[in-house]
Amino acid sequence: MNAFAGTPPAPMSLLAELTHRCPLQCPYCSNPVALDRRETELETSEWLRVLDEAAALGVLQVHFSGGEPMARADLAELVRHAAGLGLYTNLITSGVMMDAVSLAALVAAGLDHVQLSFQDVDPAGAERIGGLRGGQARKLEAARLMAADGIPLTINFVIHRQNCDRVTDMIALAHKLGAARVEIAHVQYHGWAQVNRDALLPNRDQLDAATLAVQQARTLYGDALAIDYVTPDYHGTRPKPCMGGWGQRFLNVTPAGEVLPCHAAQSIPGMVFPSVRHAGLRAIWESAPAFQRFRGTDWMSETCRSCALKEVDWGGCRCQAMALTGDPSATDPVCSRSPAREVVDRILAGVPDQAPELAYRRFLS
Ligand code: FES
Repeated sequence: MNAFAGTPPAPMSLLAELTHRCPLQCPYCSNPVALDRRETELETSEWLRVLDEAAALGVLQVHFSGGEPMARADLAELVRHAAGLGLYTNLITSGVMMDAVSLAALVAAGLDHVQLSFQDVDPAGAERIGGLRGGQARKLEAARLMAADGIPLTINFVIHRQNCDRVTDMIALAHKLGAARVEIAHVQYHGWAQVNRDALLPNRDQLDAATLAVQQARTLYGDALAIDYVTPDYHGTRPKPCMGGWGQRFLNVTPAGEVLPCHAAQSIPGMVFPSVRHAGLRAIWESAPAFQRFRGTDWMSETCRSCALKEVDWGGCRCQAMALTGDPSATDPVCSRSPAREVVDRILAGVPDQAPELAYRRFLS
């Protein structure tokens, strides 16, 4: 019996991808391979309506993201509107466009929290990944401004085989910058990251060393710094409950207004995603076929349906199943019970000793 046969519970979070424009070119960008252009972006009035509808639907948190959300001139207006609706507001930013004036405007608008991303602790490594000369200095300055303001700050490091031996220094930098929380998150292989998988996927020894560094830092910093750690799916044997289950806790509005159950859902062919330009969020959440498709357990193969963990991991990641097996309904192939687990094992065994050149994203104006 499907756990969501009736009206689903309200989503907890809205990811508002305000734009795909970004001054950085990270080769593991989680945005889709085909980016939305500036002229297709939702207008301010449309985003204000989306926020109204999200609050009415019961959403608790809105994450303003991108691309680089600070590329939108109306960001403070959107934050102010969301805060006025009682939504918890989080800004996910690279920090390279932040200065004292823009931070003050966001704080005055009611911004609750900032998640600031770093590509590395080593400036040369960071700028090689991000593709922006001087980017690390701008990020450090943004962190300094935020610490001086006192706004709650999480620092995020995306790690991979080319920087995961610096986890100890990354965590030390986050502590020094005054963050209350640091996320050490391995790249997940969707979108552009999949293009660069061989250049980014660590081997088992590298992963174990990074995990040990996180454990040691947790002991060292204790309650002074919360440390979140996300391991690469491929090295695991149990899938993660991606997005907390498809269509259960999360919705994502793209720059052009498409509503997705996850940020990578457009990689699944044949699916039609509704637009906020043509339908309300409640109708989309409760009855759009794209949200029903993998909600609950009815869609699962027998491998998942017979598993005691089916309502714990919700079958894992549909986009990963699509990418690795060509079938979005398949058991997530990272699962040891998956008939396609050998696909993942072959990828892990085939990681070259020497990382190939990275393929970079192009800027969008
Ligand atoms: Fe789409 Fe996991 S990223 S379901």
